[in-house]
Amino acid sequence: MSRDFLRKVWSLIYEDREGGDAAAARIGGKVATELTLVDIGFIYGAAIDLSEGQSFGHAQRVAYIAQEMAVGLEMNEDEIADITLAALFHDLGLISVTHELTELSSSPETELLVNHARDEVEDLTSQVRTGNIQKVAELFIQHVLNGAETAEGLPLTPEVVRLIRGHHEHYDGSGYPDGLRGDDIPLTQRVLTAADCLETAIAGAGERGHTPEFVRAEALQLSGKQIDQITSRGLVDATQNVRFWGIFTGGQLGKQLISRLPQERVAVTYSEIATFLDQLIFQVDGKSPYRQHHSWNVARHCYQISLELGLAEDLSSALGMAGLLHDVGKAGVSNQILDKPKWLTGPEYELAKKHISHTLKVLSYGSGLFNDLSDWISGHHERLDGSGYPNRLKGDQLSQEVRIISTADVYDALISDRPYRKGLDASAAVRFMEGKVNRYFDPEVLGALGAVIGSSVAD
Ligand SMILES: [Fe+2]
Ligand SMILES: [Fe+2]
Ligand SMILES: [Fe+2]
Ligand SMILES: [Fe+2]
Repeated sequence: MSRDFLRKVWSLIYEDREGGDAAAARIGGKVATELTLVDIGFIYGAAIDLSEGQSFGHAQRVAYIAQEMAVGLEMNEDEIADITLAALFHDLGLISVTHELTELSSSPETELLVNHARDEVEDLTSQVRTGNIQKVAELFIQHVLNGAETAEGLPLTPEVVRLIRGHHEHYDGSGYPDGLRGDDIPLTQRVLTAADCLETAIAGAGERGHTPEFVRAEALQLSGKQIDQITSRGLVDATQNVRFWGIFTGGQLGKQLISRLPQERVAVTYSEIATFLDQLIFQVDGKSPYRQHHSWNVARHCYQISLELGLAEDLSSALGMAGLLHDVGKAGVSNQILDKPKWLTGPEYELAKKHISHTLKVLSYGSGLFNDLSDWISGHHERLDGSGYPNRLKGDQLSQEVRIISTADVYDALISDRPYRKGLDASAAVRFMEGKVNRYFDPEVLGALGAVIGSSVAD
Protein backbone atom coordinates (compact mmCIF):
# COMPACT_ATOMS: atom_id res chain seq x y z
CA MET A 1 0.00 0.00 0.00
CA SER A 2 2.78 2.34 0.90
CA ARG A 3 4.63 1.87 -2.42
CA ASP A 4 1.45 2.41 -4.39
CA PHE A 5 0.67 5.57 -2.42
CA LEU A 6 4.20 6.94 -2.87
CA ARG A 7 4.16 6.19 -6.59
CA LYS A 8 0.85 8.00 -7.06
CA VAL A 9 1.91 11.11 -5.14
CA TRP A 10 5.36 11.15 -6.76
CA SER A 11 3.95 10.88 -10.27
CA LEU A 12 1.70 13.88 -9.62
CA ILE A 13 4.51 16.02 -8.20
CA TYR A 14 6.88 14.97 -10.98
CA GLU A 15 4.28 15.67 -13.65
CA ASP A 16 3.56 19.06 -12.18
CA ARG A 17 7.23 20.00 -12.10
CA GLU A 18 8.44 18.36 -15.28
CA GLY A 19 5.26 18.13 -17.34
CA GLY A 20 3.21 15.52 -19.15
CA ASP A 21 1.95 12.23 -17.77
CA ALA A 22 -1.63 11.35 -18.68
CA ALA A 23 -1.76 8.57 -16.06
CA ALA A 24 -0.96 11.09 -13.33
CA ALA A 25 -3.98 13.18 -14.32
CA ARG A 26 -6.24 10.16 -13.75
CA ILE A 27 -4.73 9.45 -10.33
CA GLY A 28 -5.13 13.12 -9.41
CA GLY A 29 -8.92 13.01 -9.39
CA LYS A 30 -9.11 10.07 -6.99
CA VAL A 31 -9.72 10.43 -3.28
CA ALA A 32 -6.88 8.95 -1.24
CA THR A 33 -7.84 6.11 1.04
CA GLU A 34 -4.54 6.20 2.93
CA LEU A 35 -4.49 9.71 4.44
CA THR A 36 -6.94 12.39 5.54
CA LEU A 37 -6.63 16.17 5.68
CA VAL A 38 -6.07 15.82 9.43
CA ASP A 39 -3.01 13.60 8.81
CA ILE A 40 -1.68 16.17 6.34
CA GLY A 41 -2.33 18.87 8.94
CA PHE A 42 -0.34 16.88 11.51
CA ILE A 43 2.63 16.60 9.14
CA TYR A 44 2.47 20.25 8.11
CA GLY A 45 1.80 21.45 11.66
CA ALA A 46 4.75 19.46 13.01
CA ALA A 47 7.15 21.17 10.58
CA ILE A 48 5.75 24.59 11.49
CA ASP A 49 6.02 23.82 15.21
CA LEU A 50 9.69 22.94 14.71
CA SER A 51 10.35 26.23 12.95
CA GLU A 52 9.05 28.26 15.87
CA GLY A 53 10.63 26.18 18.62
CA GLN A 54 7.25 25.00 19.89
CA SER A 55 6.92 21.81 21.84
CA PHE A 56 6.22 18.98 19.44
CA GLY A 57 2.52 18.57 18.68
CA HIS A 58 1.57 22.19 19.47
CA ALA A 59 -0.62 22.62 16.38
CA GLN A 60 -2.56 19.42 16.99
CA ARG A 61 -3.15 20.24 20.66
CA VAL A 62 -4.37 23.72 19.67
CA ALA A 63 -6.75 21.99 17.26
CA TYR A 64 -8.02 19.73 20.04
CA ILE A 65 -8.59 22.57 22.54
CA ALA A 66 -10.29 24.68 19.86
CA GLN A 67 -12.50 21.79 18.75
CA GLU A 68 -13.59 21.00 22.30
CA MET A 69 -14.40 24.67 22.83
CA ALA A 70 -16.36 24.86 19.57
CA VAL A 71 -18.41 21.81 20.56
CA GLY A 72 -19.02 23.25 24.04
CA LEU A 73 -20.11 26.56 22.54
CA GLU A 74 -22.60 24.65 20.37
CA MET A 75 -21.13 25.71 17.07
CA ASN A 76 -22.35 24.01 13.91
CA GLU A 77 -20.57 21.23 12.04
CA ASP A 78 -18.95 23.57 9.52
CA GLU A 79 -17.65 25.93 12.17
CA ILE A 80 -16.18 23.05 14.15
CA ALA A 81 -14.42 21.78 11.02
CA ASP A 82 -13.13 25.23 10.05
CA ILE A 83 -11.70 25.86 13.50
CA THR A 84 -10.07 22.44 13.71
CA LEU A 85 -8.41 22.70 10.31
CA ALA A 86 -7.35 26.33 10.76
CA ALA A 87 -5.70 25.37 14.05
CA LEU A 88 -3.62 22.65 12.37
CA PHE A 89 -2.27 25.14 9.82
CA HIS A 90 -2.45 28.39 11.82
CA ASP A 91 1.22 29.43 11.57
CA LEU A 92 1.57 28.45 7.95
CA GLY A 93 3.25 31.77 7.16
CA LEU A 94 5.97 31.68 9.81
CA ILE A 95 8.67 29.75 7.98
CA SER A 96 8.66 32.43 5.28
CA VAL A 97 9.84 35.15 7.68
CA THR A 98 12.43 33.39 9.84
CA HIS A 99 15.40 34.22 7.58
CA GLU A 100 14.73 37.97 7.65
CA LEU A 101 13.72 37.89 11.30
CA THR A 102 17.05 36.35 12.24
CA GLU A 103 19.00 38.80 10.09
CA LEU A 104 17.24 41.75 11.68
CA SER A 105 16.95 40.82 15.29
CA SER A 106 20.18 39.11 16.41
CA SER A 107 18.07 36.91 18.73
CA PRO A 108 17.44 33.30 17.67
CA GLU A 109 14.11 33.33 15.85
CA THR A 110 12.72 30.61 18.08
CA GLU A 111 13.11 32.88 21.13
CA LEU A 112 10.93 35.47 19.44
CA LEU A 113 8.42 33.01 18.05
CA VAL A 114 7.76 30.47 20.74
CA ASN A 115 5.45 32.71 22.78
CA HIS A 116 4.15 34.93 20.02
CA ALA A 117 0.53 33.76 20.37
CA ARG A 118 -0.44 36.13 23.16
CA ASP A 119 1.90 39.03 22.43
CA GLU A 120 1.09 42.38 20.92
CA VAL A 121 3.52 43.54 18.26
CA GLU A 122 5.11 45.87 20.85
CA ASP A 123 5.76 42.97 23.23
CA LEU A 124 7.45 41.05 20.48
CA THR A 125 9.69 43.86 19.36
CA SER A 126 10.66 44.63 22.96
CA GLN A 127 12.40 41.23 23.04
CA VAL A 128 14.62 42.25 20.15
CA ARG A 129 18.01 43.05 21.62
CA THR A 130 19.35 45.00 18.67
CA GLY A 131 18.18 45.56 15.15
CA ASN A 132 15.46 47.24 13.18
CA ILE A 133 12.44 47.11 15.47
CA GLN A 134 10.00 48.56 12.96
CA LYS A 135 10.94 45.97 10.36
CA VAL A 136 10.66 43.15 12.92
CA ALA A 137 7.12 44.32 13.71
CA GLU A 138 6.30 44.29 10.01
CA LEU A 139 7.57 40.72 9.73
CA PHE A 140 5.25 39.57 12.47
CA ILE A 141 2.34 41.10 10.62
CA GLN A 142 3.69 39.56 7.44
CA HIS A 143 3.53 36.03 8.86
CA VAL A 144 -0.26 36.06 9.00
CA LEU A 145 -0.58 37.69 5.58
CA ASN A 146 1.83 35.18 4.03
CA GLY A 147 0.03 32.38 5.84
CA ALA A 148 -3.31 33.39 4.36
CA GLU A 149 -1.81 33.77 0.91
CA THR A 150 -0.22 30.33 1.07
CA ALA A 151 -3.43 28.83 2.43
CA GLU A 152 -5.34 30.30 -0.52
CA GLY A 153 -3.18 28.22 -2.83
CA LEU A 154 -3.95 25.06 -0.87
CA PRO A 155 -7.14 23.01 -0.82
CA LEU A 156 -8.56 24.84 2.22
CA THR A 157 -11.88 26.71 2.40
CA PRO A 158 -12.08 30.54 2.42
CA GLU A 159 -13.22 30.42 6.05
CA VAL A 160 -10.11 28.47 7.07
CA VAL A 161 -7.98 31.02 5.19
CA ARG A 162 -9.73 33.84 7.04
CA LEU A 163 -9.14 32.19 10.41
CA ILE A 164 -5.44 31.75 9.63
CA ARG A 165 -5.21 35.42 8.65
CA GLY A 166 -6.90 36.56 11.85
CA HIS A 167 -5.22 34.30 14.40
CA HIS A 168 -3.52 37.27 16.12
CA GLU A 169 -6.49 39.64 16.34
CA HIS A 170 -7.12 40.51 19.99
CA TYR A 171 -10.42 41.42 21.61
CA ASP A 172 -9.03 44.67 23.03
CA GLY A 173 -7.88 45.82 19.58
CA SER A 174 -4.17 45.31 20.23
CA GLY A 175 -3.77 42.48 17.71
CA TYR A 176 -2.89 42.32 14.02
CA PRO A 177 -3.07 42.45 11.01
CA ASP A 178 -6.27 44.55 11.05
CA GLY A 179 -6.44 45.65 14.70
CA LEU A 180 -10.02 44.39 14.93
CA ARG A 181 -11.76 44.95 18.24
CA GLY A 182 -14.56 43.38 20.27
CA ASP A 183 -17.34 41.61 18.46
CA ASP A 184 -15.87 42.62 15.09
CA ILE A 185 -13.78 39.52 15.69
CA PRO A 186 -16.00 36.49 15.05
CA LEU A 187 -16.36 33.97 17.88
CA THR A 188 -14.71 31.24 15.77
CA GLN A 189 -11.65 33.48 15.54
CA ARG A 190 -11.57 34.15 19.27
CA VAL A 191 -11.78 30.42 19.98
CA LEU A 192 -8.72 29.76 17.81
CA THR A 193 -6.76 32.56 19.50
CA ALA A 194 -7.76 31.29 22.95
CA ALA A 195 -6.65 27.74 22.15
CA ASP A 196 -3.34 28.94 20.70
CA CYS A 197 -2.56 31.13 23.75
CA LEU A 198 -3.56 28.41 26.20
CA GLU A 199 -1.55 25.62 24.56
CA THR A 200 1.56 27.78 24.52
CA ALA A 201 1.11 28.53 28.22
CA ILE A 202 0.50 24.86 29.09
CA ALA A 203 3.60 23.78 27.16
CA GLY A 204 5.66 26.42 28.96
CA ALA A 205 4.42 25.28 32.37
CA GLY A 206 5.14 21.54 31.92
CA GLU A 207 3.23 19.13 34.21
CA ARG A 208 1.93 22.03 36.28
CA GLY A 209 -0.02 23.19 33.23
CA HIS A 210 -2.10 20.03 32.97
CA THR A 211 -4.82 21.01 35.42
CA PRO A 212 -8.18 22.81 35.30
CA GLU A 213 -6.82 25.28 37.89
CA PHE A 214 -4.00 26.31 35.61
CA VAL A 215 -6.45 26.83 32.74
CA ARG A 216 -8.75 28.89 34.96
CA ALA A 217 -5.91 31.23 35.88
CA GLU A 218 -4.80 31.55 32.26
CA ALA A 219 -8.35 32.14 31.01
CA LEU A 220 -8.71 34.93 33.53
CA GLN A 221 -5.53 36.58 32.32
CA LEU A 222 -6.58 36.38 28.67
CA SER A 223 -10.10 37.65 29.33
CA GLY A 224 -10.63 41.26 28.24
CA LYS A 225 -7.28 41.31 26.43
CA GLN A 226 -6.79 38.66 23.77
CA ILE A 227 -10.31 37.23 24.15
CA ASP A 228 -13.70 38.07 25.68
CA GLN A 229 -15.51 36.59 28.66
CA ILE A 230 -17.58 34.11 26.66
CA THR A 231 -14.50 32.60 25.07
CA SER A 232 -12.65 32.62 28.36
CA ARG A 233 -15.55 30.73 29.93
CA GLY A 234 -15.45 28.34 26.97
CA LEU A 235 -11.79 27.58 27.70
CA VAL A 236 -12.55 26.72 31.30
CA ASP A 237 -15.59 24.61 30.45
CA ALA A 238 -13.78 22.63 27.75
CA THR A 239 -10.94 21.61 30.04
CA GLN A 240 -12.74 20.73 33.26
CA ASN A 241 -13.08 16.99 32.95
CA VAL A 242 -10.63 14.14 33.23
CA ARG A 243 -11.52 12.90 29.74
CA PHE A 244 -10.14 16.11 28.21
CA TRP A 245 -6.73 15.70 29.84
CA GLY A 246 -6.58 12.00 29.03
CA ILE A 247 -6.93 12.76 25.32
CA PHE A 248 -4.79 15.92 25.50
CA THR A 249 -1.81 14.01 26.87
CA GLY A 250 -2.49 10.71 25.08
CA GLY A 251 -1.42 9.66 21.62
CA GLN A 252 -4.80 9.53 19.91
CA LEU A 253 -5.48 13.16 19.03
CA GLY A 254 -5.90 12.41 15.33
CA LYS A 255 -8.69 9.90 15.93
CA GLN A 256 -10.43 12.29 18.29
CA LEU A 257 -10.25 15.24 15.88
CA ILE A 258 -11.53 13.21 12.94
CA SER A 259 -14.42 11.75 14.91
CA ARG A 260 -16.02 15.20 15.03
CA LEU A 261 -15.48 16.15 11.37
CA PRO A 262 -17.74 15.34 8.42
CA GLN A 263 -16.20 12.86 5.99
CA GLU A 264 -16.23 15.35 3.11
CA ARG A 265 -14.16 17.86 5.08
CA VAL A 266 -11.29 15.44 5.73
CA ALA A 267 -11.20 13.56 2.42
CA VAL A 268 -8.26 14.51 0.18
CA THR A 269 -7.41 13.54 -3.36
CA TYR A 270 -3.93 12.40 -4.35
CA SER A 271 -3.47 15.72 -6.19
CA GLU A 272 -4.28 17.60 -3.03
CA ILE A 273 -1.78 15.55 -1.02
CA ALA A 274 0.83 16.28 -3.70
CA THR A 275 0.01 20.00 -3.51
CA PHE A 276 0.34 20.08 0.30
CA LEU A 277 3.63 18.16 0.38
CA ASP A 278 5.13 20.14 -2.48
CA GLN A 279 4.18 23.43 -0.81
CA LEU A 280 5.60 22.29 2.53
CA ILE A 281 8.91 21.37 0.92
CA PHE A 282 8.95 24.62 -1.04
CA GLN A 283 8.58 26.53 2.22
CA VAL A 284 11.23 24.60 4.11
CA ASP A 285 13.69 24.98 1.21
CA GLY A 286 12.82 28.68 1.02
CA LYS A 287 13.65 29.13 4.70
CA SER A 288 17.22 29.88 3.73
CA PRO A 289 18.31 31.51 0.46
CA TYR A 290 21.08 28.90 0.23
CA ARG A 291 18.69 26.01 0.07
CA GLN A 292 16.22 27.12 -2.60
CA HIS A 293 14.98 24.11 -4.57
CA HIS A 294 17.46 21.77 -2.82
CA SER A 295 14.88 19.12 -1.92
CA TRP A 296 13.33 19.11 -5.36
CA ASN A 297 16.76 18.82 -7.02
CA VAL A 298 17.69 15.91 -4.76
CA ALA A 299 14.30 14.27 -5.41
CA ARG A 300 14.65 14.54 -9.17
CA HIS A 301 18.17 13.17 -9.11
CA CYS A 302 17.22 10.28 -6.80
CA TYR A 303 14.44 9.29 -9.18
CA GLN A 304 16.50 9.64 -12.35
CA ILE A 305 19.57 7.88 -10.93
CA SER A 306 17.33 5.00 -9.82
CA LEU A 307 15.82 4.63 -13.28
CA GLU A 308 19.29 4.85 -14.81
CA LEU A 309 20.38 1.99 -12.56
CA GLY A 310 17.44 -0.07 -13.83
CA LEU A 311 15.44 -0.05 -10.59
CA ALA A 312 11.68 -0.61 -10.84
CA GLU A 313 9.36 2.36 -11.31
CA ASP A 314 7.79 1.85 -7.86
CA LEU A 315 11.13 1.84 -6.07
CA SER A 316 12.41 4.78 -8.12
CA SER A 317 9.28 6.76 -7.23
CA ALA A 318 9.72 5.95 -3.54
CA LEU A 319 13.30 7.20 -3.82
CA GLY A 320 12.02 10.37 -5.45
CA MET A 321 9.73 10.89 -2.46
CA ALA A 322 12.61 10.17 -0.06
CA GLY A 323 14.67 12.84 -1.82
CA LEU A 324 11.81 15.30 -1.63
CA LEU A 325 11.26 14.76 2.09
CA HIS A 326 14.82 14.07 3.27
CA ASP A 327 15.47 17.52 4.75
CA VAL A 328 11.98 18.52 5.93
CA GLY A 329 13.41 18.55 9.47
CA LYS A 330 15.56 21.53 8.48
CA ALA A 331 12.45 23.51 9.47
CA GLY A 332 13.73 22.90 13.00
CA VAL A 333 17.26 24.17 12.40
CA SER A 334 17.65 27.84 13.24
CA ASN A 335 18.43 30.33 10.51
CA GLN A 336 21.33 31.41 12.68
CA ILE A 337 22.88 28.07 11.72
CA LEU A 338 21.46 27.62 8.21
CA ASP A 339 22.55 31.08 7.05
CA LYS A 340 25.83 31.33 8.94
CA PRO A 341 28.48 32.80 6.65
CA LYS A 342 31.28 30.73 8.25
CA TRP A 343 31.95 27.12 9.20
CA LEU A 344 29.76 25.94 12.06
CA THR A 345 31.14 25.50 15.56
CA GLY A 346 30.94 22.02 17.15
CA PRO A 347 27.72 22.69 19.08
CA GLU A 348 26.12 24.34 16.03
CA TYR A 349 27.01 21.33 13.91
CA GLU A 350 25.37 19.05 16.47
CA LEU A 351 22.18 21.11 16.22
CA ALA A 352 22.30 21.01 12.42
CA LYS A 353 22.65 17.20 12.52
CA LYS A 354 19.36 16.98 14.39
CA HIS A 355 17.52 17.71 11.16
CA ILE A 356 17.52 13.97 10.52
CA SER A 357 15.64 13.05 13.67
CA HIS A 358 13.32 16.05 13.14
CA THR A 359 12.51 14.73 9.66
CA LEU A 360 11.68 11.28 10.98
CA LYS A 361 9.40 12.76 13.64
CA VAL A 362 7.49 14.84 11.08
CA LEU A 363 7.07 11.81 8.81
CA SER A 364 5.92 9.65 11.71
CA TYR A 365 2.54 11.37 11.31
CA GLY A 366 2.08 9.78 7.90
CA SER A 367 0.15 6.73 9.15
CA GLY A 368 3.10 4.48 8.37
CA LEU A 369 3.16 5.41 4.69
CA PHE A 370 6.63 6.92 4.92
CA ASN A 371 8.12 4.13 7.06
CA ASP A 372 9.82 2.58 4.03
CA LEU A 373 11.70 5.85 3.55
CA SER A 374 12.96 6.18 7.13
CA ASP A 375 16.14 4.12 6.79
CA TRP A 376 17.08 5.77 3.51
CA ILE A 377 16.45 9.26 4.86
CA SER A 378 18.23 8.64 8.14
CA GLY A 379 21.25 7.40 6.13
CA HIS A 380 21.56 10.36 3.76
CA HIS A 381 24.63 11.76 5.56
CA GLU A 382 26.36 8.39 6.00
CA ARG A 383 29.54 7.70 3.98
CA LEU A 384 31.01 4.37 2.79
CA ASP A 385 34.17 4.77 4.91
CA GLY A 386 32.15 5.27 8.12
CA SER A 387 32.91 8.99 8.42
CA GLY A 388 29.28 10.11 8.09
CA TYR A 389 26.49 10.59 10.62
CA PRO A 390 24.35 9.89 12.61
CA ASN A 391 25.27 6.18 12.96
CA ARG A 392 28.71 6.03 11.29
CA LEU A 393 27.47 3.23 9.07
CA LYS A 394 30.10 1.63 6.87
CA GLY A 395 30.39 -0.26 3.57
CA ASP A 396 27.68 -2.91 3.26
CA GLN A 397 25.64 -1.26 5.97
CA LEU A 398 24.77 1.42 3.41
CA SER A 399 21.99 0.09 1.20
CA GLN A 400 21.84 1.00 -2.46
CA GLU A 401 18.98 3.38 -1.67
CA VAL A 402 21.11 5.18 0.93
CA ARG A 403 23.97 5.41 -1.58
CA ILE A 404 21.60 6.98 -4.12
CA ILE A 405 20.13 9.60 -1.80
CA SER A 406 23.51 10.58 -0.30
CA THR A 407 25.04 10.96 -3.76
CA ALA A 408 22.15 13.11 -5.00
CA ASP A 409 22.31 15.19 -1.82
CA VAL A 410 26.03 15.95 -1.99
CA TYR A 411 25.87 16.70 -5.70
CA ASP A 412 23.18 19.35 -5.21
CA ALA A 413 25.04 20.80 -2.22
CA LEU A 414 28.21 21.13 -4.31
CA ILE A 415 26.56 22.92 -7.23
CA SER A 416 24.67 25.32 -4.91
CA ASP A 417 26.04 28.56 -3.49
CA ARG A 418 26.68 28.48 0.24
CA PRO A 419 27.15 31.48 2.57
CA TYR A 420 30.89 30.75 2.59
CA ARG A 421 31.52 29.62 -1.03
CA LYS A 422 30.18 29.72 -4.59
CA GLY A 423 28.64 26.62 -6.12
CA LEU A 424 30.68 24.44 -8.53
CA ASP A 425 29.57 23.77 -12.09
CA ALA A 426 28.14 20.30 -12.85
CA SER A 427 31.28 18.71 -14.27
CA ALA A 428 33.54 20.12 -11.54
CA ALA A 429 31.13 18.72 -8.91
CA VAL A 430 31.20 15.25 -10.48
CA ARG A 431 35.02 15.37 -10.75
CA PHE A 432 35.21 16.31 -7.07
CA MET A 433 32.94 13.40 -6.17
CA GLU A 434 34.97 11.00 -8.32
CA GLY A 435 37.93 11.89 -6.12
CA LYS A 436 35.98 10.42 -3.20
CA VAL A 437 34.68 7.31 -4.90
CA ASN A 438 34.63 4.21 -2.67
CA ARG A 439 35.53 6.41 0.31
CA TYR A 440 32.24 8.34 0.30
CA PHE A 441 30.38 7.35 -2.84
CA ASP A 442 29.41 4.19 -4.66
CA PRO A 443 31.06 4.01 -8.12
CA GLU A 444 28.00 2.62 -9.86
CA VAL A 445 25.68 5.25 -8.38
CA LEU A 446 28.15 8.00 -9.22
CA GLY A 447 28.33 6.68 -12.78
CA ALA A 448 24.53 6.85 -13.02
CA LEU A 449 24.56 10.41 -11.71
CA GLY A 450 27.12 11.29 -14.39
CA ALA A 451 24.89 9.75 -17.07
CA VAL A 452 21.79 11.58 -15.80
CA ILE A 453 23.56 14.92 -15.73
CA GLY A 454 25.21 14.27 -19.10
CA SER A 455 21.84 13.65 -20.70
CA SER A 456 20.25 16.69 -19.08
CA VAL A 457 23.16 18.87 -20.31
CA ALA A 458 22.75 17.35 -23.80
CA ASP A 459 19.01 18.19 -23.69
FE1 LIG B 1 1.22 33.20 14.59
FE1 LIG C 1 0.60 28.64 17.73
FE1 LIG D 1 20.45 16.60 5.17
FE1 LIG E 1 20.01 17.68 1.83
